[in-house]
Amino acid sequence: MLTLGIESSCDETSVAIIKDDREILSNIILGQMIHSEFGGVVPELASREHMKAIISVYHEALKAAQVNPDDIDLYAATYGPGLVGALLVGLNFGKGLAYGKNKPFVAVNHLEGHIAANYLIHENLPDSHLTLVISGGHTLLVQVNGFGSYQILGQTQDDAVGEAYDKVAKLLGLGYPGGKEIDRLAGEGDKKYFKFPRAMIKDESLNFSYSGLKTAVALHVRSLTEEQLQKHVADIAASFQEAAVEVLVEKTIRAAEELHIKDVSLSGGVASNSRLKELMQKRLQNIGGNFYCPPPKLCTDNGAMIAAAGYRRYKLSGPSDMNVNAVPYLKLA
Ligand code: KG4
Ligand code: ZN
Repeated sequence: MLTLGIESSCDETSVAIIKDDREILSNIILGQMIHSEFGGVVPELASREHMKAIISVYHEALKAAQVNPDDIDLYAATYGPGLVGALLVGLNFGKGLAYGKNKPFVAVNHLEGHIAANYLIHENLPDSHLTLVISGGHTLLVQVNGFGSYQILGQTQDDAVGEAYDKVAKLLGLGYPGGKEIDRLAGEGDKKYFKFPRAMIKDESLNFSYSGLKTAVALHVRSLTEEQLQKHVADIAASFQEAAVEVLVEKTIRAAEELHIKDVSLSGGVASNSRLKELMQKRLQNIGGNFYCPPPKLCTDNGAMIAAAGYRRYKLSGPSDMNVNAVPYLKLA
């Protein structure tokens, strides 16, 4: 069975084709450079760029997969959460294709898509596991009890961890989005240079908070001269990253121990982070746990994860109603 997955919730236009549950035939991802000069995603520009790109990305996905449009059995597209105008482009394109080809359509929750990215490559990932969904808009610690069954154990009380990365990158003059660049720079810096706050690390809940950390970095940057800042950019990146990542790891390990869950996966754009992967893997090893994480191309927003989740959604509950609309604040559970 061939599933075509479409993702357009933010600033990546992506179309992918997968065979059955996990074989990726193509996964074309087109980022939008236009936002970098504004230091963040401009919603109106995002929808316009999706409209310009979607048809060629679709044709490219078919070509790369060497698949005829009539061979697609199921169409899947993200319907939320995300920017409403951006979501509508991919969602309506997917519905239009399904209607035109007389094939089923399934609307996919973007967060379920991120979680499902792990299924594409980890055949041995047990149905029941913990996952940390970490992106530009979300920081969720989730207990998964099989596909479609989620219990949110903790979430951010303010900024998402990816948002903190992007804001700190901006403070350091690193461009947008800056998570990847902070990750790279941190590798050259001293993580003990400055002790930034580990917000809520001792708190009983499994919730997170990232706005204080961002403010602490801003105050520190403000206290430096331009020359000092240039000298310590990598050190600040490393010190910020250590604080951000330590809380994620600490709370995830605590949840794994309390709930006696051995298998932990990461998902979402921030799951590409090298220090997070290193620390999480080490701490899991110490408690006899197993670590799972998709490769960077499947962590960032992409159509393959939407196809993977769409295929499973369809098997679980059949096609979506064709009247389904975009839901900008759609929740996971
Ligand atoms: O999942 P995603 O592609 O889009 C959303 O759904 O938000 O995540 C994008 C986020 C951005 O905040 C970006 O800076 C961050 O993921 N990111 C990273 C890394 N690569 C991307 N953050 C930390 N380290 C990375 N290597
Ligand atoms: Zn995402």
